[in-house]
Amino acid sequence: MLILKTRNELFDFIQYINAKNLSLGFVPTMGALHDGHLSLFKRAIEDNQYTIGSIFINPTQFDNQNDLLKYPRTVEDDINKLESVGCDAVYIPGVEDLYPNGLECDTIAMNGLDLVMEGEFRPGHFQGMATVVKRLLLQINPTRAYFGEKDFQQLQIIRHMVCALKLPVEIVGMPIIRESSGLAMSSRNMRLTPDFKKKSIFIYQSLLKAKELSSHYTPQKVVSKIEKMYLNTDLKLEYFTIVNEETLLTANTFDDCKNYRAFIAVFAGDIRLIDNLQIR
Ligand code: PAJ
Repeated sequence: MLILKTRNELFDFIQYINAKNLSLGFVPTMGALHDGHLSLFKRAIEDNQYTIGSIFINPTQFDNQNDLLKYPRTVEDDINKLESVGCDAVYIPGVEDLYPNGLECDTIAMNGLDLVMEGEFRPGHFQGMATVVKRLLLQINPTRAYFGEKDFQQLQIIRHMVCALKLPVEIVGMPIIRESSGLAMSSRNMRLTPDFKKKSIFIYQSLLKAKELSSHYTPQKVVSKIEKMYLNTDLKLEYFTIVNEETLLTANTFDDCKNYRAFIAVFAGDIRLIDNLQIR
C-alpha cells in the first residue's frame, strides 16, 4: 500500500490514475479505524479499480479543543488495517497540505442542513467538515466517495455540496455498523468507561423503541415518550428528534410517501455519542 504524506506525493499517484482512466474510490477518515470505517473501504475496493483513504484529524471541524486534543491517534494500527483489507493507497497529509493559507474555512452553502441537530450544538463544525472534504475531493478527484450513515447529517450536507459545486463524484452512503450490543461503532467508544459502555446500549434500544412507537403515535408524542425514558438513566440527553430525511426538518406528521429518521445525541459521562435510525 502506498503511503502518501504530502500533496506532491499524492499528485503523482492521482496523475497515474487519471492518465490510465482508472476508477478511484475514496474514503475520507480521521483515523482510529474500526470495522465501521473498514466497511466503507471494503465496498470502495469492490466498486473501483483503485481505492485511496485519507487520515487527517481536521482541526477546523472541532468546536471543542479538548475533543481535538483527546482525539485518538493510532496511525500505525490504521495503516495495518488498511493494508489488510487491500486498500491501494492512504493519504496522510499535514495541515499545510490542506490549509496552505492558515486554518480558514471556505464558505459553503448548505441550504439550512447545517442549522439543526449537530449544527445547532456544534457551531462551525459543518463548515470545517465541508471545507476539508471539498479540498480532499478536489485534490483526489475520485470516481466515488464513501460516507457512513453514522453521520447522516454530514452525508446529506456532502451530497448537497457536491451537487451545488457540480463536483464530478458519486457519493455513496453506507449503513451504520454496530457492535453486537447494538452500540454504533465510533472512535469515541474506546474512551467510554466499562460502566458507560454498558449503559450506552440504551441509545440504540431507544431508537428501536421510537421506531416501534412511530406506528401508533405522532412524531412529537414519540419524542416526548423517549425523552421521558432518558430521565431514568445516567445518560444525559442533548437532543432526540425525528426529522424528514431529505430536509432534516422536524416532522410534525408522518406522511406515507416520505422517509423519517430519528436522531440522538447523548453524553455518557463526558463522552458525546450520536446515533440515528430510519423509523419510517
Ligand atoms: P470519521 O469520524 O473518521 O468517519 C469517517 C467515515 O466513517 C464517515 O463517513 C463516518 O460516517 C463513517 N463511520 C464512522 N463510524 C461508522 C459506523 N459505525 N458505521 C458506518 N460508517 C461509519 O466523519 C469523519 O471522520 C470526518 O468528518 C471526515 C468526513 C473525514 C472529514 O474530516
